[in-house]
Amino acid sequence: MLKNNEIDEILITEEEIREKVFELGKKITRDYQDKDLVFIGVLRGAIIFMADLARAISIPMIFDFMAISSYGAATESSGVVRILKDLDETIAGKDVLVVEDIVDTGLTLDYLLRILKSRKPASLKVCTFLNKSARRKVKVKVDYLGFDIPNKFVVGYGLDYAGKFRNVPFVFTLNPEIYKGELK
Ligand code: IMP
Ligand code: MG
Repeated sequence: MLKNNEIDEILITEEEIREKVFELGKKITRDYQDKDLVFIGVLRGAIIFMADLARAISIPMIFDFMAISSYGAATESSGVVRILKDLDETIAGKDVLVVEDIVDTGLTLDYLLRILKSRKPASLKVCTFLNKSARRKVKVKVDYLGFDIPNKFVVGYGLDYAGKFRNVPFVFTLNPEIYKGELK
C-alpha cells in the first residue's frame, strides 16, 4: 500500500484514531437519543471516518452524501463551491450531522452549511476528523472534533494527495520528494 520512503512523519496512529472514534461515537450516541439523525458525508475524503464513526454510534441513523468541488487551485480553497452531487433525501425537520475529513480555511464548510441551513433542518451540527485552526479564514462552529493538527498537509484515513493515500489507515505527512514528482 505504501512504499517506505513515502512517509515523512506519522502524526496520528491507527490506535489513536480507534480510541478517538470510539469516544466521539459515545458522545454522539448520547447527544442524539430520540433524535432523527441524518449523517451527511462530504465526498470523498470523509467516507473512511464516516464509516468507522457510524459503527461507533448505537442509535438509528440514515446516511446521505454530498460531493462538492471547490473552484481554484488544488491546494488552496477559494470558498466558491460547486455541488457535484446533492443529497438524495430531504432534511427538513431532521437532525443533521455533517461529517468532514478536515476543516482547513473553513470556506468549504461555511458554504455547505449555508446551503443546508436554508433547507430547514431541526438541527445542524458538524463533526470533523481533523482541524487546522491555524489556517482558518472564516469562523465555523465545529461541534465534534477528532484532532487538531498543525499547519501541515496530511494524507491517509480518507485524505488524499492527487487522489492517492486515502486507504492508508493512519495520518501522515508526505516525503517532500513526492510533491516534486521525484518519487514514483
Ligand atoms: P477548506 O475550505 O480550506 O476548509 O478546505 C477543506 C478541504 O480541503 C478538505 O475537505 C480537503 O479536501 C482539503 N484539504 C485541506 N487540508 C488538507 C490536507 O492537509 N490534506 C488533504 N486535504 C486537505
Ligand atoms: Mg473534503
